[in-house]
Amino acid sequence: GGLTVGVDLGGTKIAAGTVDPGGEVVSRVRVPTPHDPDRIAGVIAEAVQRVRTGWDDVRAVGVGAAGYVDADRSTVRFAPNLGWHDKEIRDIVQEATGLPVVVENDANAAAWGEFIHGAGAGHDDMVMVMAGTGLGGGIISRGRLFRGRYGMAGEIGHYRAVPNGLPCPCGQHGCMEQYASGAAHTRRAREMAAADPARAAVVLALGDGTPGGLDGQHVTKAALSGDPFSLEVFAQSGRWLGQALADLASVLDPSVLVIGGGLGDTGELIRRPAEMSYRRALGGGEHRVYAEVRTATVGSDAGLIGAANLARLHQLLSAPAA
Ligand code: BGC
Ligand code: NA
Ligand code: ZN
Repeated sequence: GGLTVGVDLGGTKIAAGTVDPGGEVVSRVRVPTPHDPDRIAGVIAEAVQRVRTGWDDVRAVGVGAAGYVDADRSTVRFAPNLGWHDKEIRDIVQEATGLPVVVENDANAAAWGEFIHGAGAGHDDMVMVMAGTGLGGGIISRGRLFRGRYGMAGEIGHYRAVPNGLPCPCGQHGCMEQYASGAAHTRRAREMAAADPARAAVVLALGDGTPGGLDGQHVTKAALSGDPFSLEVFAQSGRWLGQALADLASVLDPSVLVIGGGLGDTGELIRRPAEMSYRRALGGGEHRVYAEVRTATVGSDAGLIGAANLARLHQLLSAPAA
């Protein structure tokens, strides 16, 4: 019994919710992620206090954070898109709320959420890719969240996909995040529109008319209406994402691959080209079972629901014997 709060801390927004044992979100808030890295922890604590107001049985908090989380689930060692390093977020939120806190990587938390309540249900071996501001990964292996020895397994955004490729906020270059994330998809649309504005006329008209004013929603809307330019942007992004899925399947051999994050929210628009490219790129192709490629079904709540459930499990495991 009891309620727990889940927080999804992404590069663009912070979502928090109070979640019941069945995975229902009973209260929620959503606020933009502050640009000032020193303000983020305070905003998280405030969001937790807001969603727990009126609920007297809240027992713990889970924070899914967009960065490299340490083995004891307390500190974000490095968050390329938040400007954080060595942020002891567990202690800060614990102190501000008086509740026990567990920290997990945001994509790991989302993978856990999809595994217990969504697209990965019944699949003991699943891999989730979260394509939003960053590109995150979460690995469920034999029914357990695979964290690696130091907590940092599944950082799929930052393996080198392209030698001498685009610079990345993590300090490397050519990281897959720069090609297959939601942010990369938007950037691609802007670049393609700038290169050929006439061809992009339909989608440009949805924004302020300039390539720089384009956002992901415009591209989705135009693609849904059949705009060839926007469908081509999806084809390109899907090609990269499918390559990432093939790389993951080569190493991990799951039965299902789940696409989440903002790009996953576009459903078949991204799933179809991603699956096609995944099947083309996977080694051993005809001679193996292809993992199913799905989009997230818990969707934008997966991170907070997963984090809330991890807080619940953590509570159970660490509760003193009665
Ligand atoms: C971060 C990951 C995070 C992902 C999605 C990446 O840039 O390194 O820790 O899971 O973005 O937010
Ligand atoms: Na991860
Ligand atoms: Zn990187």
